[in-house]
Amino acid sequence: MTEFKKRRDAFMEKIGDAVAVFPSAPQVIRSNDGHYPYRQDSDFYYLTGFAEPESVLVLAPSHPQTKTVIFVRPRDRDREIWEGKRLGVEAAAAALSVDAAYPLAELDERLPALLDGSDNLYYGMNGGHEFIRRIIRHVKQARITRRRADNAALNILDPSPILHEMRTIKSAADIAGMRRAVEISCAGHLAAMRYARPGMHEYEVQAIVDYVFASRGAESNSYPSIVAGGNNTTYLHYTANRDRIPDDALVLIDAGAEVDFYNGDITRTWPISGKFSAEQRAVYDIVLAANRAAIELCKPGVTFNTTINDAAQRIMVEGLIDLKLVKGPADAVLEGGAHRPFLPHRVGHFLGYDTHDVGFYRQKGDWRPLAAGMVVTIEPGLYVGYDLDVDPRFKGIGVRIEDDVLVTERGRENLSEELPKDADEIERTMEAGRRSKEPLLA
Ligand code: GLY
Ligand code: MN
Ligand code: MN
Repeated sequence: MTEFKKRRDAFMEKIGDAVAVFPSAPQVIRSNDGHYPYRQDSDFYYLTGFAEPESVLVLAPSHPQTKTVIFVRPRDRDREIWEGKRLGVEAAAAALSVDAAYPLAELDERLPALLDGSDNLYYGMNGGHEFIRRIIRHVKQARITRRRADNAALNILDPSPILHEMRTIKSAADIAGMRRAVEISCAGHLAAMRYARPGMHEYEVQAIVDYVFASRGAESNSYPSIVAGGNNTTYLHYTANRDRIPDDALVLIDAGAEVDFYNGDITRTWPISGKFSAEQRAVYDIVLAANRAAIELCKPGVTFNTTINDAAQRIMVEGLIDLKLVKGPADAVLEGGAHRPFLPHRVGHFLGYDTHDVGFYRQKGDWRPLAAGMVVTIEPGLYVGYDLDVDPRFKGIGVRIEDDVLVTERGRENLSEELPKDADEIERTMEAGRRSKEPLLA
């Protein structure tokens, strides 16, 4: 709880006399009266550590008594019999280290007094349509009241430049959390390498990954696991996972575990047979060289989306030329865009409470340099679509290699370093897995 309080204090220090409202994520119907698994809003969780729905945090740093207020669901014996225990109003203030806690039903009644005297309301439009409308109603009413009282305006401001900037730079506690998420993510990928067998369907390999995530304590996947075999490796965010993996095909797994709201996001690509074909290895080694070079470049002051992205891209373009999949020279390819069908995405993104984490990639028009405490993915990929007019031996080969990298004062630490990615090492790992008698369900 001290970490969450520290974050609230740091945020409040930066908003002066303003008030800020952060709602929980809405619950969303999946089918009929059943909901999607509930996942708290990342901003709300970042500031509260509270995972229950139907909650609202109000920060009012210049309020004389209650600077931090939480609205929550009251205890309800009947509902709790169905859904499990709620924190409740009585316990909330102490449990969450806030000044006051009220039932959510009192939000409308209490918000005007909390807003009173502030010209600015920070609200990031979170909480779903209903909640957005609710806040707009309050702001409209406050503006009407203020006009009559000859008072100032009430502006709605975006909290992102302050809050998301904070989330971009990870604290020691954040880094410890990211390590746990990445460690479990690696364990899921390693198990897939060891226990996948020719003849399996994509969903069977997915089951290995997801089983290990869950059994090691992940609350969720960071996103639905992508397990793509053969031609499906050339779809970037393939999630159907229904096909039988062809015996001679590559498998691309992009999967991450979510632990304490921290997200791992890792991709490995390997042959279901346990041995890369010459063509698969040729493409693989190009992507691996791009992955390694890009990670090596990560350090404070280097721009992610120019220096690092461009270095990875150039390595892959030169590789495409070597394989005669495009015609060189590299500068002409990059200029004319002949590489684009093979390299459809950039090198990575911020990682944290969200898989594609918040944070600004540009500053004053320019790409922003990396800074110590950022966590980014490095995920070059090269995809030879099966419908492209190229050497047929390479058709349907898609390779992505994704690691999670912490930028440190001195350079970087690859948090997913332990997970094999060298082609020989992957083959040895798969071979050892196939020989081992150790059951997955130990
Ligand atoms: N799994 C989504 C991504 O790698 O960005
Ligand atoms: Mn990924
Ligand atoms: Mn990613």
